[in-house]
Amino acid sequence: MPAGELEPLRAGLTLAVADRMVENVVGVTGLPLGIATNFVINGREVLVPMAIEEASVVAGASKAARAARSGGGFVAECDPSLMIGQVQLLGLRDVEAAAYRVLERKAEVLNLANSRPSQIVELGGGATDLEARVVRESPAGPMLVVHLIYDVRDAMGANAVNSTVELVAPLLEAVTGGRANLRVISNLADRRLARARVKIVPGELDCGEVAGSTVAARIVEAYSLAAVDPYRAATHNKGIMNGVDAVAVATGNDWRALEAGAHAYAARQGRYGPLSQWAIGADGQLEGCLEMPMPVGTVGGATRACPTARACLRLMGVETASALAEVMAAVGLAQNLAALWALVTEGIQRGHMALHARQVALAAGAAGAEVEAVAGRMIEQGEIRSATAERLVREMRGNTQETQT
Ligand code: MEV
Repeated sequence: MPAGELEPLRAGLTLAVADRMVENVVGVTGLPLGIATNFVINGREVLVPMAIEEASVVAGASKAARAARSGGGFVAECDPSLMIGQVQLLGLRDVEAAAYRVLERKAEVLNLANSRPSQIVELGGGATDLEARVVRESPAGPMLVVHLIYDVRDAMGANAVNSTVELVAPLLEAVTGGRANLRVISNLADRRLARARVKIVPGELDCGEVAGSTVAARIVEAYSLAAVDPYRAATHNKGIMNGVDAVAVATGNDWRALEAGAHAYAARQGRYGPLSQWAIGADGQLEGCLEMPMPVGTVGGATRACPTARACLRLMGVETASALAEVMAAVGLAQNLAALWALVTEGIQRGHMALHARQVALAAGAAGAEVEAVAGRMIEQGEIRSATAERLVREMRGNTQETQT
C-alpha cells in the first residue's frame, strides 16, 4: 500500500463529512486508532486497524496473534450475506390461514421485493426467500411475522432491507387482510454467521515460571465458567467484542448492530452463553473457535463516507463484506485468547495500569518525556491518581527550573 494512501488514517473525520453523516453536527470526536500486528488469517498476513479507547486491547490482540502464528494462524469463514427483514401483521382473524396465503404468493412478494431499483439487486443480491412465522400469543394477541431473507452482498444491508420490507408490506396486507405494523431488519443476523478457529502450540503460552501447557489448561478452566455461568459469559463475550467492535469502528461499521446480534445469538439456546469455546486437542494444543453473527459491510454508509474507514479497509487488503467478517471473527477470537491468557496468569491490571498511568499523566498536563516519567513514578509508588500526577508534574518542572537557574 503506497504511503500516501495511509494519510487518511491520520487525518480522521472532517467536520464537513461529519455534517453530511448525522444531524445537528457541532464537532467530531476522536478515538485512538491502533494497528494490531502479527495476524495470519487464512494464510494471509493482515494488519488490523482498531479504533478503541481502552488500553491493552491492541497489544493483547497482537500478542495472541503472535502466539497463533506457529500453529498456522487463524482459519476463518463466513456464511453468505443473508439478512432478515421482518413484517409484523396484526388484526388477522385466522393467523395460520394468513401464513398459508403468504407462502402461496411467495413468488409474487419476492418479485415485488426485487423490483425496487437497487445496486444490490443489480449485483446479484436481493430477496431470496420468505418465511411466515405464526405467533399465537403475545401481549398484542396473535400475529403473523413474515421474514424476508435478503442477500445484501457487500453491504451491511439495513437500508436495503428496511426499504424492501416497507415496499412489500402493503402487498402482505392485501394478501392476509391484516395490518402491517413493524417493517424493519432483524439484528439477530443468524443467517450471516462468521467463524474463526485457532490452534495454539502450548510452548507459545509459557509465562515466566508457568509452563504453556498449564496456561492452556487454565484457559480451558476459565472458558468453562463462561460455558455454565451467564455472569462470566457476559464478560467473556465483552472481551470478544473489544476486538470485533474496534475493527467495526475503524471501518465505519455499525457496532451496535454487531453487539445486538452477538448477544441475542449468545442467548439463542434460552440461556446466555459464550460466543467462543476452548479445549485441549488430542495433540495437546489449545484449540479455540468462535461463531457469531457478523453483519458488516465494505460499501455504503459511513464506510463509504469516511476516508479513514476506506483507508482501514485498504490497509487490511479487504474488499468484500465476507473478507471483513472473517478478519473480525479472527480478531474477536484473538482478543478473547489475550484476555483469558492475561487473566489466568498475571491478571489484566498490570498491562492496563501502565497505559492507564500514561492517560492519567497526560490528563494532569504532562507533556513529552514527562508522560513516561510521571507514569513510571506513579506505578512505582502504586498510586495512579490525578492528584499524584499533578504533584509529580509540578515537582519535575520545579526541578527542571531549579537546574536551569
Ligand atoms: C475487559 O475489557 C475485557 C475482559 O474483562 C474480558 C474477559 O474477562 O474475558 C478482560
